Amino acid sequence: MKSFGDLIYSREKVSGEAVSKVESHAPKIVAPDKVRANEVFEVRISVGPHPNTVEHSIRWIDVYLYEEGRKFNPIHVARITMEPGFVEPEIVLRMKLSRNGCLYVLAYCNQHGVWEVRKEIRVE
Ligand SMILES: [Fe+2]
Repeated sequence: MKSFGDLIYSREKVSGEAVSKVESHAPKIVAPDKVRANEVFEVRISVGPHPNTVEHSIRWIDVYLYEEGRKFNPIHVARITMEPGFVEPEIVLRMKLSRNGCLYVLAYCNQHGVWEVRKEIRVE
């Protein structure tokens, strides 16, 4: 049996029928490439366009941080769960970092599984 990590789709790790699902399922992260240490910055995360019905919707978004130099990673920094039909899968986080890191965003579609995107952020 595969490890859970092997079940997660990403732009780099997708094949077959899942290729057609990348644009509608892989989360999009808008965040600076570089930030100042301990200064708040915005991270905007969205998924889609994607259906938003009881039968088919994005149910949750999870955000993790890999922090350079930390003994154990990742840090779980945010989770949002969404009720189908009421909330679009788009969130804005106000974050601050003290070290270089990488954000890992996971989004779950009840029909098409868990999708990962990551973004490195340098701290000056
Ligand atoms: Fe889907």
